[in-house]
Amino acid sequence: MTNDAYTLADEAAAALKSATGLGTFDVALVMGSGWVPAADAIGETVSEVPFTDLPGFRAPAVAGHGGKIRVVRTSAGRNALVFLGRTHLYEGLGVDAVVHGVRTAAAAGVRTLVLTNAAGGLRPETQNVGDPVLISDHINLTGANPITGTTFIDLTEVYSRRLRELVREVDPSLAEGVYVAFRGPTYETPAEIRMLRTLGGDMVGMSTVLEAIAAREAKLEVLGVSLVTNPGAGLAGEPLNHEEVLEVGRATAARMGVLLAKVVDRL
Ligand code: 6GU
Repeated sequence: MTNDAYTLADEAAAALKSATGLGTFDVALVMGSGWVPAADAIGETVSEVPFTDLPGFRAPAVAGHGGKIRVVRTSAGRNALVFLGRTHLYEGLGVDAVVHGVRTAAAAGVRTLVLTNAAGGLRPETQNVGDPVLISDHINLTGANPITGTTFIDLTEVYSRRLRELVREVDPSLAEGVYVAFRGPTYETPAEIRMLRTLGGDMVGMSTVLEAIAAREAKLEVLGVSLVTNPGAGLAGEPLNHEEVLEVGRATAARMGVLLAKVVDRL
């Protein structure tokens, strides 16, 4: 065992390889709340490894957030790691725990990372509940960063233009927007939602940005997709609740899965 986050990810990748009998993996997908139907669409399940079997992983604390890595063989013959559940900053386990899956995927050979999330919509074009929206860029308001020290990582193109264009070939109707992340676990106040609109935000959530930063440090190509589960607080007049977010995710995850399966096949 070790305290170094990168060595711990190497150990987790080695454990994953020995648990699955596979030597390398091509792509990883991190699924948002309750997205098993989306995972089902990606391809044939080869095996499943509970997070608790791998060094450095914790079982997610929130209901609906799963807790295992599913190894999937895509129809194009690629090995995909599908993370069913993720650690969020609001769980209080620290930023290294949040990005451990991404570092493990990178250590396991992955070059392409698909990050998905459930998000609140901030603008008319990103407020249709159930619609996937491509993440073009982010604003990190979590107050955290997975990189420490003096490694200055370029974030000019965190979310790959090439991958976004590839997704739009599959579905030209998709909107694109800037994802803003707060630490959570509270949803925003209506005043904060107005602030985020002024700042240029299009979607808001509690994940993805730290994982994307860790992925860029590891030189992975990143695709980000938000599933809009509700308008931001105060935009629709109704209070927000986690159950509703999960329910929209469940109801529309299959559509997301079909989209992601087509994208993964074209990588
Ligand atoms: Cl409105 N805010 C945040 N922070 N996360 C969300 C959300 C809103 N809707 C789904 N997830």
